[in-house]
Amino acid sequence: MAAFKVEKLRVNYKTLEEFKKFKEYGLQELSMLEDLQANIMEDDIESPFYGIYYGDKLVARMSLYRVDQKEDKYFNPPQEYLELWKLEVLADYQQKGFGKALVEYAKGYNLPIKTNPRIKSAEFWSKMDFVPVEYDMERDFGANPLVWYPN
Ligand code: COA
Repeated sequence: MAAFKVEKLRVNYKTLEEFKKFKEYGLQELSMLEDLQANIMEDDIESPFYGIYYGDKLVARMSLYRVDQKEDKYFNPPQEYLELWKLEVLADYQQKGFGKALVEYAKGYNLPIKTNPRIKSAEFWSKMDFVPVEYDMERDFGANPLVWYPN
């Protein structure tokens, strides 16, 4: 299988335009766009997003956020971990290894990872060795978090 190059994405108009093709385009992206337009945010600063380009087209992306041990509610004992979200591969590019490449990149930090999977993606996550945590109604509130532990 081809190795895909995962890149840390920079916030600029071009990236934000590419983000519009993803279904999970939402408040976070809109507020980045507003901050750029209002010159509150500098052009080209690093974002929490990582992506894979196919040619010059962004075809897959995810957001990674490092959570401090003090804020951890998922691991016992509490530890620093990565929150992985907004993982998405554009429809025409699914099932080609892009999603896996992003998840493997995240695993490369060698920290535990937590994610809230979207519906219908259970099989993908189990192939990525993510497992459910015990459901905690107050904490999870309708989400079904999955976690991965480094060896
Ligand atoms: N159902 C079952 N298996 C799946 C799957 C799915 N929806 N998506 C991926 N897999 C499996 C692949 O067959 C592959 O298995 P293998 O290693 O045995 O060959 C493995 O997971 C890795 O697949 P990959 O090609 O990296 O997946 P991807 O690039 O398509 O990324 C998603 C996976 C879920 C992130 C991506 O498809 C996506 O963003 N989908 C849109 C939203 C969604 O959740 N769709 C689900 C279908 S409705």
